[in-house]
Amino acid sequence: MIGWSATLDVGDEVSLVLDVDSSSLRVREGTGGMQPLTGDDKANIEQTINDEVLLRTPIRFHSTSVDLDDRRLSVEGELTLMGQTHPLAFELAVEGGTRLWGSVVVKQSEWGMTPYTALFGALTVTDEVEVGIDVTLGAAEEYELRRPQELKPALLELEGISRSAVFAHYNLYEGYVAKRNEIVEKLAAVDRGGANQVSSALRALKVELAFAISAIRNHELYFEQLGGEGRNPAGAVRRLIERDFGSADAWRADLKATGMTGRGWAWTAYDWDEGRLFNYVGDAESTFPIWNATPLVALDVYEHAYVLDFGTDREAYIDAFFANLDWSVVNDRVWTDRIPLTR
Ligand SMILES: [Fe+2]
Repeated sequence: MIGWSATLDVGDEVSLVLDVDSSSLRVREGTGGMQPLTGDDKANIEQTINDEVLLRTPIRFHSTSVDLDDRRLSVEGELTLMGQTHPLAFELAVEGGTRLWGSVVVKQSEWGMTPYTALFGALTVTDEVEVGIDVTLGAAEEYELRRPQELKPALLELEGISRSAVFAHYNLYEGYVAKRNEIVEKLAAVDRGGANQVSSALRALKVELAFAISAIRNHELYFEQLGGEGRNPAGAVRRLIERDFGSADAWRADLKATGMTGRGWAWTAYDWDEGRLFNYVGDAESTFPIWNATPLVALDVYEHAYVLDFGTDREAYIDAFFANLDWSVVNDRVWTDRIPLTR
């Protein structure tokens, strides 16, 4: 499980709240079978959990009473699973004041769930599932768990960009969100004393976080703005483009050329310091966004964006990108971000 957050409040009244992104459950190992689970088996089981069992619904537990002493945490509360809420009680051992461990038994049928089988019946899940818990308490969590934005239906009807390419791309985006959640969780516990510019756990996490957060932002911009009919810009953004590039054709040619030079991204952004639009290039998710610039159009030129449909023909992909741009989304950005239309 990689997407979760828990808050144990030990103020005047002790309380425990746990939120779990059910699509972040991971299959680690299976025991008792004739053969160990393969990577494909694990992926198939995870897909079954997402598509047929938990349906990506959130899992939430909140306590109604908590008794905490030096050696034991006794919790009573309510667990919401598949939209149904039922009472659940469990005890965890407390070790060293910061480590909690133990297990909770969840009887699936009490939440209206039918225990499922996988691998054509070779793997059967019992009704009573024992959930192992082993957590180390940290300081108050600074970050919220993030969830992927939904895949908008118009993305499945693009001109020249196939559904399978969109699905594969969207899966990558979901991975960036999951990794961001995993990284912020690790950051809460990482050793700051060992910070080092050459190599350290903190450095690795900070660099990875920049990549993951930028990737989320880039892909949300990218997916939101597709699903339109392309053509020429209209409305406020047309005024900006014509002012700063001379014409829509000149803007398109420059963004395409910028995209041909990039190893990751090209963006049309409004630069607040320059007071104008500019097409910037990026070699990776987190290089080289410009401080104090607001992206209005995000063109993904990583190979994963086009190799399924266009092979290595990036130019043809960029043409398809322009043909699917939704200018109303770009104009919404101009208004929402209050880009000035006059200098
Ligand atoms: Fe991408």
